[in-house]
Amino acid sequence: MMIVTTISEMQQIADDYRRNGKKIGIVPTMGCLHEGHLSLINLAKHHADVVITTLFVNPSQFGPTEDFEKYPRDFERDNKLAESAGTDILFVPSKEDMYPSDHLTNINVERITDVLEGKIRPTHFRGVATVVGKLFNITKPHIAVFGQKDAQQTVVIQQMVKDLNNDIKIIIAPTVRESDGLAMSSRNVYLSTTERNESAVLYQSLQLAKQLIDEGERNCSTIISEMTKLITSKPSAKIDYVLISNASSLEELVTLQTGCKILVSLAVRFGTTRLIDNIIHTKK
Ligand code: PAJ
Repeated sequence: MMIVTTISEMQQIADDYRRNGKKIGIVPTMGCLHEGHLSLINLAKHHADVVITTLFVNPSQFGPTEDFEKYPRDFERDNKLAESAGTDILFVPSKEDMYPSDHLTNINVERITDVLEGKIRPTHFRGVATVVGKLFNITKPHIAVFGQKDAQQTVVIQQMVKDLNNDIKIIIAPTVRESDGLAMSSRNVYLSTTERNESAVLYQSLQLAKQLIDEGERNCSTIISEMTKLITSKPSAKIDYVLISNASSLEELVTLQTGCKILVSLAVRFGTTRLIDNIIHTKK
């Protein structure tokens, strides 16, 4: 595995691969790699000749009161894990190279960034779209892999690629979970033992929603209130939102129609740690 730290070198290498007819795959990450990230690298390997994993804790997607400074960083560990999963190039740019002091351009995907996570984190998706747009221009990929774990992020990136005519295929990988159902996340390391035990309720609540939908429940507020009851039975859980939306447009749903692809998503705080999770389900 080669480690590349500058944008100019990365662009040169990407050009060489393209000239030689190689298919490039990219897996953007912020590091603190876990099985979820590794599954993306694995999937990218199946779709590309060369896999570039990017490792950059992107300051522009963190709000002023969020955990940018304390976001877990362990380069040596990430380096080993990225290599073991089959990464060919680990791209680790510096903040100064990515955002020089005269950087003025941002990518703003409208409307679909105003809901769900975007409502609570108003500048988050502008930061995500901007850094992903930049990483696409730097690594020149044919395919890019993102996780279903960040459902709204996948919708925003797909919209951006469509609107900006990026010739890149976006591949969405399923969420990798711990044995009790908790979605793997770099932020899980912040949880105390009690919070970690109680956080399994998130997946249980998503499974409850699926069960209610399959049993014929059409009323979204009934499903949300059953999920809320279950989640708030855990003393350390504080709900930011539990929502049912159209999985493509992200519009909030009131009643479920047969055949509709539904996104059930939630954001819940355990102490100071904010976790998100979701499932996509089709109403039969
Ligand atoms: P990060 O949180 O490091 O996640 C990197 C990629 O891993 C994302 O596509 C995310 O959805 C995926 N991922 C995280 N947990 C997962 C899990 N349990 N199962 C499957 N995939 C999982 O998302 C970001 O970084 C950033 O916003 C980024 C796209 C890198 C832009 O800065």
